[in-house]
Amino acid sequence: MIPHIIKLPKFLDDRGNLSFIEEHNHIPFKIERAYWIYDVPGGERRGGHAYSNLQEFIVALSGSFDVILHDGNEELRFSLNRSYYGLYVPPMIWREIDNFSTNALSLILADDKYDESAYIRDFNEFKKIKNAG
Ligand code: TYD
Repeated sequence: MIPHIIKLPKFLDDRGNLSFIEEHNHIPFKIERAYWIYDVPGGERRGGHAYSNLQEFIVALSGSFDVILHDGNEELRFSLNRSYYGLYVPPMIWREIDNFSTNALSLILADDKYDESAYIRDFNEFKKIKNAG
């Protein structure tokens, strides 16, 4: 599967809106972990790595930020700024997050537990592995 935006259900209501995510339904994997990035100082970047075998789904629950993806050949930038859609990121895609707005809240769902050995943190190494495969 390639990186793509997934629209989530959205119940518009005068009392406030509601959206939700179900594993294997709205996103194509089982949720093993959720983490969130918040209180990001202006101008900071997060990420800057790829995962050898981990899928993620990234939602801007609040505020906005950009997710920059690189597949080893080309770069794609996705602006996330609504809580009713998100970005699916497959394994072996380099990703960084920047351009955080004040009070941005990034929710990230992953299909596996945290494991530092799943990270590729060197871009040249990432490109080497991609081009070898
Ligand atoms: P890291 O993945 O390096 O952050 P970024 O998304 O900016 O690349 O994670 C920062 C720290 O948090 C690192 O010491 C590992 C720890 N961490 C966990 O313990 N569990 C997790 O689920 C995540 C995502 C990170």
